[in-house]
Parts: sequence; structure tokens; C-alpha cells
Amino acid sequence: MDKLNITNPFNAPVYYLETVSSTMDISRKLSAAGEPHGTVITADFQEAGRGRIRSRTWEMEKNTSLPFTILLRYPRIENIPRALTLRTGLAVSLAIEDFAPYLKGSVFVKWPNDIMIGSKKNAGILCEADEGTVYLGIGINVSQKEFPSHLREKAASIITNVDSGTNVTGDRFILLEKVLSRLYNEIETPLENDWRLRLEKRLYKINSHVAFIDGAADNGREVKGVLKGIGNDGDILIALDGGEEVKSFFTGELKF
Ligand code: BTN
Repeated sequence: MDKLNITNPFNAPVYYLETVSSTMDISRKLSAAGEPHGTVITADFQEAGRGRIRSRTWEMEKNTSLPFTILLRYPRIENIPRALTLRTGLAVSLAIEDFAPYLKGSVFVKWPNDIMIGSKKNAGILCEADEGTVYLGIGINVSQKEFPSHLREKAASIITNVDSGTNVTGDRFILLEKVLSRLYNEIETPLENDWRLRLEKRLYKINSHVAFIDGAADNGREVKGVLKGIGNDGDILIALDGGEEVKSFFTGELKF
């Protein structure tokens, strides 16, 4: 396995393979082999990329997307940072703006695990854990120009319609470096920081009326109301229609 020569503030290796089944699988192997906290595996292509919902795959084009998984080791499950997926979303959205400053103000975090450019999905986060061992998978569309027909209206890349004057490089591994730097700041700081407020500033559809599927995507119950924000544990807060009540939900999906 090759190592990439990029900065990893976690002080751990960044591995690269041309083609993998899923970087999640390789990360599990790296964990079994004793690799340290912060070890990253990335690839040019995944043959079986996974989405958060089991029935959904993560499709990508070779070389124009950035799929990677970072292995995080905590002594126990209680030591895993609160709201890790959302805080990762915050870090990824900041890194995208570092990489492509012309996108500032149009990168949002959609609860619970998507990054949006405008109203289209640009990146997704998949967090798997075995006790205190976390496999944090991130997939970002970097410069893919064409998407399959079922994604065409829904997916966006960072680099599209950008003229040569914007000085943005298509180098995916520069973006990876920026994500690692932002992620380190978000999750390795010893003090409880203000992630919730910073996240709410870029929360997709905050203060809008939304429909929400409470529970599993395929058999949840639909509720409607105004998206008010995020709770301390990463729960979504919705002021339900027809009442004063702001309700907190831990599982479910926004529906558009
Ligand atoms: C989602 O949007 O539902 C989550 C998508 C996560 C995709 C990334 S790509 C790197 C890692 N490997 C996978 O198989 N999935 C995650």
C-alpha cells in the first residue's frame, strides 16, 4: 500500500490504493493490523461504496471524487466525541470553502450527514463504530462533471463551471489535507467548543418549514414543522406544526 506525502495533523499515515471495495473495509483491516488513531485510507475508485442507509450505495467516478476513511481510536464508546457525524460535516464544509473560496456562503450541512452546495448534495459522511473504534468515512464529489441520470438533479461537484481564473486546483489530495486539518481542529480540541452555534449558521434549511421522517427512512412517520436547530448531542430540533412544542429527534431524515 502506498503512503501519500501530505500533512496529517493526527500524526498518522495516509494510505492510498488505486481501487478498493470500500475504504470502510480497508480501514477495518488497518485497525486489525494495529494502525494508530488518525490513520487514513483513500483511493481513486471504490467498487462498492456504501451510503448511510444500507440500501443506498455511494457511486463515484474514478479520479474525480475523494473517498476516504479515517480510523479513530477511543478507549471506550463514551469517549467518542459527541455528535461526531455533524461535527465532521462542519469540518468538511469549512474545508471545502478553504479549498474553493468562491463557494463561501453556499456550503451547508444537511442533518445528519450530508454536505450541500446550494441545494445539491456534494458530500456524504458514514460513521461506523465498534465500541470505541470509529471508522469515519467521507465521500466528496470534487470535479465530476457528469452524474448518472438519477443523480443529475441532486448532486454537485466542487469544481464545475469554474473558469481558469479562479486558481483552484483539482488536486483531490490537497482537499484531503484541508479536511484533515479542519477535522483535527473540530474534534481533538480539549475544551468543549462552540460547534453547535457554528454549525447552525450553516445548517441546511434552518428556520424553514420542513417535512421530516421520524425513524427509519423506509417506514418512519412523517412530521412537519420549522427546523429550529441542533441539540447538544447532535439531535435535530423541530417546532412541530400546530403546537408550541419543539421536539428533538435522533434518527430520521429530512424530506424534500
Ligand atoms: C451517505 O451519503 O449516505 C454517506 C456516504 C459515505 C460515502 C463514503 S466514501 C468513503 C467511505 N467509503 C464508503 O464505502 N462510504 C464512505
